[in-house]
Amino acid sequence: MEPIETLIAAVDRLDPAAETMALAAQVIRDGGLVAFPTETVYGLGANALDEQAVARIFEAKQRPPNDPIIVHLADVEQLHDVAIDIPAIAYKLATAYWPGALTLVLRKHPAVPPKLTANNDTVAVRIPSHPVALNLIQGAGVPIGAPSANRFSRPSPTSALHVLADLQGRVDVVLDGGNTLIGVESTIVDLTQPVPTVLRPGGVPLEALRRQLPGLAWRPLFIHDGAAAAPAPGTLSKHYAPDAQVIVVRGNGEPALLKLRTLAEQHLAQGQQVGLLLQDADALYFEGLPVQVMLMGATSAAMAANLFSGLRALETADVDVILVHAPQQDGIGLAIGDRLQRAAQGQIIDTE
Ligand code: TXA
Ligand code: MG
Repeated sequence: MEPIETLIAAVDRLDPAAETMALAAQVIRDGGLVAFPTETVYGLGANALDEQAVARIFEAKQRPPNDPIIVHLADVEQLHDVAIDIPAIAYKLATAYWPGALTLVLRKHPAVPPKLTANNDTVAVRIPSHPVALNLIQGAGVPIGAPSANRFSRPSPTSALHVLADLQGRVDVVLDGGNTLIGVESTIVDLTQPVPTVLRPGGVPLEALRRQLPGLAWRPLFIHDGAAAAPAPGTLSKHYAPDAQVIVVRGNGEPALLKLRTLAEQHLAQGQQVGLLLQDADALYFEGLPVQVMLMGATSAAMAANLFSGLRALETADVDVILVHAPQQDGIGLAIGDRLQRAAQGQIIDTE
């Protein structure tokens, strides 16, 4: 596509300037593209009810047309503009988790263009909690369709710099509200199945959802086998992938760290540049090795917040291989494990 001029506007996270937000809202109403921060990752937004604007999202991201887009709302009343046959459980979950990092899949309203839902008769919706996102949706006065603001198959953006690295010249406005807080995308729950089903683990932990929905089913497809129709099309195997080989090691104690160290030594011996994404306490196992270490913090929440920027930073540092120590697989750790599994395209080593 022909490059367009990208306006970059810094905004205060809690109190974005009215003038800037009015301009961004006008761009949305005019059918343009605005990248904006949410509490999870940055989104690439357009008027969800304008088929041509939605088409521009797909073009800018180079996203395959069979991958539907989440609609972002400002309040629960707007649900009726995009969804029909809304079950009671949707309102219960909305009360508990909205605004927040939970996306619900519902039956689609005819007003939603088929392009947005990739011709599915369902639509994914959420109300984000980020003040800039809410302000933009309210100001625009229309629901905003927004996938993560990265090029297709790249790690999701958690800062405006990440957005610009992928989309400068392809988006009209980038609202720079600093780093996103959660760092991984929303949890997706499909309420159109006979049993409510998790399609993607994310910012809201499954343990919390199970308190409302004890029977919640779990069907994220980790690796797309190309044969089955994918219910959550974020299941294509090459996803969240930086431009380097990624190898993930799972397990808590010393065996995982010794395995990582052995892998690092093997790749160094082959003359490769090695990057490591580690939890803070792991660092001492790699002392003395000529590797690039990115410390992700001491908790799973910190690791989630730093995950995509860590992958991007090591890629920018031009490493050949990124070795990652996965966190424990519970809470937000499930979402991290899911994203790592996709980034590693199946190269996972279990040490437990
Ligand atoms: O946190 C988030 O969810 C971020 C922010 C920007 O809100 N958005 C996001 O969008 O992660 P995206 O497009 O990168 O991922 C949305 C996922 C895709 O895997 C898509 O296939 C799935 O949601 N999805 C969208 N509509 C769907 C539908 N009707 N049924 C099943 N899956 C759907
Ligand atoms: Mg995405």
